[in-house]
Amino acid sequence: TESTLILIKPDGVRRGLIGEVVRRIERKGLTIDKMELRTLERETAEEHYGEHRERPFFGELVDFITGGPLVALVVTGESAIAAMRQLAGATNPLESAPGSIRGEFATEIGENIIHGSDSPESAEREIKIFFP
Ligand code: GTP
Ligand code: MG
Repeated sequence: TESTLILIKPDGVRRGLIGEVVRRIERKGLTIDKMELRTLERETAEEHYGEHRERPFFGELVDFITGGPLVALVVTGESAIAAMRQLAGATNPLESAPGSIRGEFATEIGENIIHGSDSPESAEREIKIFFP
């Protein structure tokens, strides 16, 4: 069993998709250990997305993720990291499987509803940022 850090990004909250995402997590058989609505400080966002600091879209990414309240969750279960990446779908919503969260609810790579940790190392690092 393992844990992963999930964010329902500000676009997901704004569009009323908190319940939809939570429902999919629960139906998948995963457990929600922690869940909090909050608006990120810039510093926290820059730390969370530190691996993308040199990318051309970094400023845009930080503006977006700090632009309104988001929901941070710790989700736990068997293969929780891969299971949540599967539910989320590919990063670019135009390439995500049609039944995935991004595939169903998003069109733009910059506003793709959900974040999920991509490895056990990322999960550990990100959970510490959001739930120290
Ligand atoms: P996260 O779960 O949010 O980390 O997405 P990911 O792991 O599927 O993708 P990645 O970590 O590579 O990128 C992080 C986020 O940066 C993505 O979710 C996108 O919202 C954003 N992003 C990635 N590539 C681009 C891009 O080319 N343009 C813009 N505007 N945003 C991008
Ligand atoms: Mg990522």
